[in-house]
Order: sequence, then structure tokens, then C-alpha cells
Amino acid sequence: MTTGLIICLLLLFLLLTLTFAFVAWYFLPRRFSGEQSVANAYDRWTQDQLLERLWGEHIHLGYYGKPTKRRDFRQAKADFVRALAHWGGLDKLPPGSRILDVGCGIGGSSRLLASLYGFEVVGVSISPAQVERARQLTPAKLSCSFAVMDALNLKFDASEFDAVWTVECAPHIANKQGFADELMRVLKPGGLLVAADWNQRDHSVTPFSGLESWVLEQLRVQWAHPAFSSINSFSENLNATGALDHPAQTGNWSIETLPSWIASITEGIKRPGAVLSLGPNAFIKACREIPTLLLMHWAFSNGLMQFGLFKAERRRR
Ligand SMILES: C[S@@+](CC[C@H](N)C(=O)[O-])C[C@H]1O[C@@H](n2cnc3c(N)ncnc32)[C@H](O)[C@@H]1O
Repeated sequence: MTTGLIICLLLLFLLLTLTFAFVAWYFLPRRFSGEQSVANAYDRWTQDQLLERLWGEHIHLGYYGKPTKRRDFRQAKADFVRALAHWGGLDKLPPGSRILDVGCGIGGSSRLLASLYGFEVVGVSISPAQVERARQLTPAKLSCSFAVMDALNLKFDASEFDAVWTVECAPHIANKQGFADELMRVLKPGGLLVAADWNQRDHSVTPFSGLESWVLEQLRVQWAHPAFSSINSFSENLNATGALDHPAQTGNWSIETLPSWIASITEGIKRPGAVLSLGPNAFIKACREIPTLLLMHWAFSNGLMQFGLFKAERRRR
């Protein structure tokens, strides 16, 4: 076989794969239909190992500073945890503080919070496969435990935790007020909530165009998101819990986290073995995520989506 023919066959294979992946993306979205649909989606993403092989143990964006600096995606994810802990004042808490990580993924942030600051961390996720994997990845010497639990029905008494940490979980939750109420309920008096999430622009200020509405719909249906809050509306949810003496404070790290979307794709190119060693199915699955990652990049670049930060202190009395 000549080299030319081999190249043609490879290009044909690539074209067919990309077409197949795009058809799967468009016609087989993973819509939210209750908490079980989120659990199933994360169970599959965990069991096929694709996310972990590509992006490591953190399923959240990286922190690249402002102006952004070039850095390794996995390093940027670890930097994100440090930067958010600093922004939220968590790094001032004494070792031994009890922290609840709501929507903990496979425990990347929980382990880092335990090892960096000596916290005792409990991580909860709706996905049994994630909890099992989090336990496998956690060395016995770390004070970290994990449980399957719905964020809307936390099996903890009121006032159990010194801080609650939640990263990129809220877009999977339809009842935003119920979520805010649960996060604040389990905090001790004076306890800290630190949250970071994908939010949509406040459409009561600037309504969405037809194109923007279509993009938002794709961002919801592709990754089991029932709805995005705006930064403003989720801070109103926190204030409405009645558990705060002072209004929640917010931040916007859309710029600081923006390189993550393209890095999520280039990781696959930099580490082709990570995907290809899982077989052709994994390659198609990886390609299937590319349109959503590109739309996320576009939406965060244009201010349609915003990376919101929230901190709130539970009333002391
Ligand atoms: C994008 S991942 C973020 C994971 C983790 N916070 C991290 O930063 O690596 C979203 C997480 O939220 C969890 N989640 C979604 N809905 C949930 C619910 N109702 N209750 C508990 N966890 C939920 C998912 O299982 C997943 O672990």
C-alpha cells in the first residue's frame, strides 16, 4: 500500500468519526430529567475513564490568572482550588476544620483541601461510580470520606460544618433555592460557604438573542443541566435563605478560567494515548464533546456565560 493511500484512508476514517460524533452530539443529547439522569451521566463518564484520563482528578475549570498565563491544564486545576480557597477565606480556617464538598466529582478538590490545609473533608456526589472512584483514589492517611447523596437532601444535621465548598454543581440542580437552603443549613454559625459555578448572563438586563438562546439550549441539553442561574439570581437565592447577616459576595472569573475550554480539547491532542488506548468508541465519545466545549468557549468569551463565585457567612447567632 502506498503512503498516499494510507493517508487517504486515515483522513477518511477521521472524517467519518467526526461526522458520526457530530450526529451523535446533535441527535442524542443528554437532557436533564431529574437527579437520576445526572447520576447516570456521571456514572458513565466515570466508568469509561475518559474524563479522568484526559483531565485528571479534577472535573472543573483551571485558573490561569488575570491577565491569563500559559500553564498546564492539570496544574491550572490545582491552582484553581488554591485560588478559590484564598478568595473564599477558607485558607484562614484552622487545620481540623470540617468541610463539606457538595458535588465532589471523584474527589480532586476534597483531597487537595485535606492535604493543603489539614481539613477533615466529606465529599458528596449524586453518582455512585464517582464516589467509588473517589474512595479508590484517596490515600488512607488523608482525612477524606465520600458518600452518595443528593445535594437537595443532605443527610447531615444542621450546623455540622465549618465550611461548605461547591464547584460546578449548581447547573445540574433545578431547584436553586432548595440548593442554597441546604448549603446554608448544614453550616455552623459563622461557617463559610464558598461556591463557584457556570452562570448565564442576567437576561432581565440584556435579553438573549435567538442565537444566544439556541447556544444556551445546547449547553443545557448536552450535559444534563436543567437551568443556569445568573450570578445575581443565585446570590439572591443565598440571601433568601434567611441564614445570612450580610449579603452574599460575588466574583466573576470568566477571564481567569477561559483558557480551560480549549485546553480541554488540546489535552486530547497532547495525550492521544489517553484516549486511543481506551478504543475507537472512546475516540468517538471524546470527539462528541468537542462541539459543546467550543460553544462553552464562545459563550464565556462573549459574556453569555459567566464564571460566578459566591461567598457567604452563616449568621453567628
Ligand atoms: C462538573 S462536576 C464537578 C465535580 C467536582 N466539584 C470537581 O470540581 O471536580 C459536577 C458534580 O456535581 C455532582 N452533582 C450534580 N447534581 C448533584 C446532586 N443533585 N447532588 C449531589 N451531587 C450532584 C455530580 O455528580 C458531579 O460530581
